[in-house]
Amino acid sequence: MSKPPLAAYPHLRPRRLRQAEWVRRMVRETQPTPADLIWSMVVHDGKEAEIPVASMLGAPRFSVARAAEAAKEARALGIPAIAVFPFIDGEKKDSRGTAGTDPDGLVCRAVKAMKDAAPEVGIMCDVALDPFTDHGHDGLLEHGRILNDPTIERLVEQSIIQAKAGADILAPSDMMDGRVGAMRKALEAEGLQDTMIMAYAAKYASAFYGPYRDAIGSAKALSGDKKTYQMDPGNSEEALREVAMDIAEGADMVMVKPGMPYLDILRRVVDAFALPTFAFQVSGEYAMLMAAARNGWLEEERAILESLSAFKRAGAAGVITYFAPRAAKIWGA
Ligand code: PBG
Repeated sequence: MSKPPLAAYPHLRPRRLRQAEWVRRMVRETQPTPADLIWSMVVHDGKEAEIPVASMLGAPRFSVARAAEAAKEARALGIPAIAVFPFIDGEKKDSRGTAGTDPDGLVCRAVKAMKDAAPEVGIMCDVALDPFTDHGHDGLLEHGRILNDPTIERLVEQSIIQAKAGADILAPSDMMDGRVGAMRKALEAEGLQDTMIMAYAAKYASAFYGPYRDAIGSAKALSGDKKTYQMDPGNSEEALREVAMDIAEGADMVMVKPGMPYLDILRRVVDAFALPTFAFQVSGEYAMLMAAARNGWLEEERAILESLSAFKRAGAAGVITYFAPRAAKIWGA
């Protein structure tokens, strides 16, 4: 609890501290910087440097070569890390998500290219099967059910090939129970004890992932919804249980997802656990801001920066966002 004010009006006039930019800057409580940003990026396997995604204005799919350039850009802009997500061609998808455990697959090649181009930039990989499955689910599907423990075996395989390709952070986004513990055990056994895990600990079954599923090409594939594994948007106590489990299983960092609609969850997690907690400003949040701005209904740059401030104010260690390079450029200008 903060202390109550010592004085009342007119002795206390809060507007005094707002009268000029220098004093507003001087008393500002939180301020996002490029160091708070993880650049969310979709990669594809073709030659074209950038392929636009209709619902993600200004956040196209990158080729592997373009992604390597982007890693250098991140370094120059002071962005510490990039989170990479793959667009997989339809014919490479199957029910088990086989392409997701191919050590020569798109993700591993992208990781290697980015680490070669800019080794100082951290690379984070998504651990989940949905970009690779023909049904679009994050796990193995049998008779309409997502199997928990058999999925974990696949996720462990995926984790190991990603870590061996050079991924610094593994970020399981699948929401299977017990996967963080299994990943941590396997990493230890493989001598990969320095690989970090950022758990998508409190991840909700959200409508705000829509544009992402377009971007990675899983929107058409998805049969049904993800409500049997992702969290119910009405729940808050459950988020604390999920986070506690992932920390106990060996997560180094945790994440709340989506971002802005779940700032209350973020604040609760930050207050409850002494661990870096990140927010994912997801594709739908990005698309909403961009669509409104491009219609002239919002001031684009101000809205972007204000959204990033909100995460810091709510206590986030950082934000995974498609706005990362844009925001860093605005601050640097
Ligand atoms: C799936 C995954 C999703 C996102 C990241 N990993 C979508 C989903 O759960 O369907 C969403 C990212 C975004 O919307 O920007 N493993």
